Formats: sequence, structure tokens, C-alpha cells
Amino acid sequence: MSYNLLKGKKGIIFGALDENSIAWKTAERVFEEGGKFVLTNAPIAMRMGQINALAEKTESEIIPADATSIEDLENLIEKATEILGGKLDFVLHSIGMSVNVRKNRHYTDENYDFTQKGWDVSALSFHKVCQTLYKKDAMNEWGSIVALTYMAAQRTFPDYNDMADNKAYLESVARSFGYFFGKDKKVRVNTISQSPTPTTAGQGVKGFGGFISYAEKMSPLGNASALDCADYTVSLFSDLTRKVTMQNLFHDGGFSNTGVSNEVIEKFSE
Ligand code: NAI
Repeated sequence: MSYNLLKGKKGIIFGALDENSIAWKTAERVFEEGGKFVLTNAPIAMRMGQINALAEKTESEIIPADATSIEDLENLIEKATEILGGKLDFVLHSIGMSVNVRKNRHYTDENYDFTQKGWDVSALSFHKVCQTLYKKDAMNEWGSIVALTYMAAQRTFPDYNDMADNKAYLESVARSFGYFFGKDKKVRVNTISQSPTPTTAGQGVKGFGGFISYAEKMSPLGNASALDCADYTVSLFSDLTRKVTMQNLFHDGGFSNTGVSNEVIEKFSE
């Protein structure tokens, strides 16, 4: 269902790798709501992913950018504003990767070169995106910047590894940059803390199958899907949420405020 919530709005969507990606679903929903955007991903992901199909479907152009490279980000923002014909109204940061997770390094045995790389990609890149947008004065007033995060930033999930620390940093950037973007440019900055979702990044977490079923049983409304997340993001890009900023917004079917559910108790009473 479309409400034309983003009619006339322009933006950049990072992180659509394949049709499971949260950014992919978001691009489809933003397009349905009348938004125009440039798609971007790391050059390596262009080769692995199917982003061309998404670009065709959403009538958008693709500009490769490694989100850890200021040069790439500057080029991306310059070209995107040129292509879209003006400043931006929305930006989605949907990027995450831990080298320690990929290489099966336990949290108590981190390789710090891996840690630094994962932090740069998953957390600092959000500051880099915000700072480049800010310096280039590329956002329209009442624009909206959203990044995706996970509750391991607040509570321990042992197999989430160093991504937990990266997400804590990412959420802090939203608060800190949100202050300056709000004061100086009337732009909002938020993070959405999403339920476990079966995507390439999600499934990289050890024991993901158990993890996602547990969350499903714990959440009164069930897990939020990638499409649900896309809908929520659309609302944050729309004019209906203009005074929401510097927030970490839980989008998890109620998981984060549930101590225990009857379903989980039943499992332990067997
Ligand atoms: P995904 O694997 O589809 O997306 C991750 C994206 O990050 C990929 O498109 C990848 O190419 C991109 N990326 C990696 N390195 C990059 C770089 N240097 N520059 C630019 N892009 C780069 O997985 P998903 O799940 O859609 O991930 C999107 C966001 O949602 C991530 O921040 C993730 O941590 C977050 N999230 C995911 C959850 C899940 O269970 N899947 C739960 C909560 C948050």
C-alpha cells in the first residue's frame, strides 16, 4: 500500500546487497512512496550483489562507494545531488561487517586489526557519512538520516561478538551528530534497533537459527521483518516524524521490553 509519504523527496540508500537486505526492501518501499534515490554499496559488493536489478526496478542510478573512504563519500554525495537535482532529504546507512565474526575469532580472542576494520566499516563509517553530508551542506532542512543497529548495544548476546561494541558506538554517533545536525541544519539523526533478520549480515552471526526463533517466541508481536523495517524507515524519512531525533528506536515486536514470554517458560517447564 502506498501513501505517497515521500513524494518529491530525494536521498541515498547504502547497503542493498541482495533481495534479503534490509536496504533492498527499504529501496523498494521508498520508491513506492514516491521517493527518488541513488543506490550505493562497496565496489566489491557490486560484483557479488544483484544491485542492478534493484536499480532498474526503482529507476535509480548506482554510485559505488566504500563507506570508510572520505574520498568515495565526497564523490558519492556530489554525484548524487547532481543526479537528483538538489540537496537530499533522506539517507539510509545499512552497513555492517565484523572481520572477527567472519574469521571465527571469539570475543575473548580478538585480532585487533580485524576489530579496527570492522569498527571502521560498521560504526565510524556512520560518522564519516554524517560529517561528509554536514560539511557539504548536502541535506535539506527537516531531512532525516537513519542507521540500523541491534540491541546487543545494550544487552549482551555472546555470539554477537565485537559487533555489539560497534553498534554501541554507532548509536552514540546518532546522538552526538544528531545534536549538531539538529541545531545547525534542522536535520534529524536516528538509529533503528531491528529484530534479528535473515540476511547475509544476520546469518553471519553464530547460532543465528536459534537466535531468531528465540526472539520470535519472546516478542509479543513476533519479530519485525526486513519489510516491516522498511516501512518504519519510510515513516522516519517522512514529514510525520519531524521532531524525532537523537533516538535509538526499538523495532522488535516488543522483544526489548519483555522479561520472559509464556512460550519460553513452557519450553523450560517440559
Ligand atoms: P546485508 O548483508 O544485506 O547488508 C550489509 C551491507 O553492508 C551489504 O550490502 C554490504 O555490502 C555493506 N557493506 C559492507 N562493507 C561496506 C563498506 N566498506 N562500504 C559500504 N558498504 C559496505 O545485511 P542486513 O542485515 O541488511 O544489514 C544491514 C544493517 O542492518 C547492518 O547495519 C546490520 O548490522 C543491521 N542489522 C541487521 C540485523 C539482522 O539480523 N540482519 C539486525 C539488526 C540490525
